[in-house]
Amino acid sequence: MIKIVTVIGARPQIIKAAALSRAIKNTFSDKIKEIIVHTGQHYDKNMSQVFIDELKIPEPDYNLNVGSGGHAKQTSDMIIGIEEILKDIKPDFLVLYGDTNSTLAGAIAASKIHIPIVHIEAGLRSFNKSMPEEINRIMCDHTSTLMFSPTKTGINNLISEGFNLQNKPPYYPDNPGIFHCGDIMYDNSLYFKTVSDKQSNILKEYGLEKGNFILSTIHRDNNTDIPERLNSIFTALLEIANKENIPVAIPLHPRTGKLLRINLENSLYNAIIENKNILILPPVSFLDIIALESNCRLVMTDSGGVQKEAYYFNKPCIIFRSETEWVEIVNEGAAIIANADKDCIVNSYFKLSKNLNIKFPQLFGDGKAAEFICNKLLGLN
Ligand code: UD1
Ligand code: UDP
Repeated sequence: MIKIVTVIGARPQIIKAAALSRAIKNTFSDKIKEIIVHTGQHYDKNMSQVFIDELKIPEPDYNLNVGSGGHAKQTSDMIIGIEEILKDIKPDFLVLYGDTNSTLAGAIAASKIHIPIVHIEAGLRSFNKSMPEEINRIMCDHTSTLMFSPTKTGINNLISEGFNLQNKPPYYPDNPGIFHCGDIMYDNSLYFKTVSDKQSNILKEYGLEKGNFILSTIHRDNNTDIPERLNSIFTALLEIANKENIPVAIPLHPRTGKLLRINLENSLYNAIIENKNILILPPVSFLDIIALESNCRLVMTDSGGVQKEAYYFNKPCIIFRSETEWVEIVNEGAAIIANADKDCIVNSYFKLSKNLNIKFPQLFGDGKAAEFICNKLLGLN
């Protein structure tokens, strides 16, 4: 029996963790014991507990309750808390997901006391170091013992940073094991789609018709905190909603919710609030977002996870960023990088929504990434 400690904290990590916890429960419960540490980075019920309940993740064994704050305060509180737990538990591995401050804190805490790190979602790069996430994921990869990349692009990025795919066990940070395993979020999208079809009532709740609404999410700090960018994105959403007379459902991250009034020009804010086609919703549950993603006409987002889920459900996507880590979906012609450029967003909408020939080949594995990872943790093939 091996012992792993899993760190979760931000919404997408809680969702990703569901796939591994499910695989452990169903197939590896006699071989892997998982202890879950929630850093408390996200804490509102609809940003955290709703996912633990709905996705049937075991209740975290520890919650550090760090809450919100500047990068340094938030990350350092997490490092201290995680180190104490690791010293106490002495796990075989610390499992980290993605690129948030919770990921970075786990990497710093574990690497200094020689607990082997497993990084799930390794190798992704935006090549934009002004993003906090880019710093977090590079630091985490470079302290890891096992790296699981969802894409070939991720593997290639690691190779160009000097990692050697031919490394053999025993693995350690200077001789890490590198594996292409597919996307753990694809496991979840496949698994929870059938549950969502049965249980989600969100379309009915908001009067949305299948194929006749747009889904949009916005939460990146450079979009929420730079008023020009936020105004430009919302001007584009308003223009499309009006020209097409199509509802735009926007489940808003609390970060964006708090800044909308402050950073949108008054007249735009009022126009958004009064427009019957613009539906500002609170953050929704995973079963509800799957219902929105799989039934909408098109997705517009700056989220990493939502971009890919759009692809999984064969929906075109407009990306409110200047680059993406998920370059495959852009190369396939299923997504367009429109940044926060109002005209580019509007033109991309007309281009993608009228194109019925977009293909969505399977690029992100077979939906069994979690089982693959568990086998590797156990040293099996
Ligand atoms: C974090 C991650 C980002 C990820 C996102 C997923 C970092 C640096 N960023 O960004 O990579 O895409 O999570 O959603 O780790 N807030 C609440 N309630 C909550 C959580 C947050 O009101 O439960 C508000 C607070 O005002 C907080 C702000 O959102 O200051 C930002 O939260 P934070 O966790 O610092 O960063 P995110 O923008 O969520
Ligand atoms: N998500 C959700 N409810 C929402 C918005 C997003 O359940 O209202 C899910 C989404 O389906 C995806 C994950 O949260 O699985 C993505 O998280 P987020 O956009 O916060 O972060 P990112 O992926 O950009 O790091």
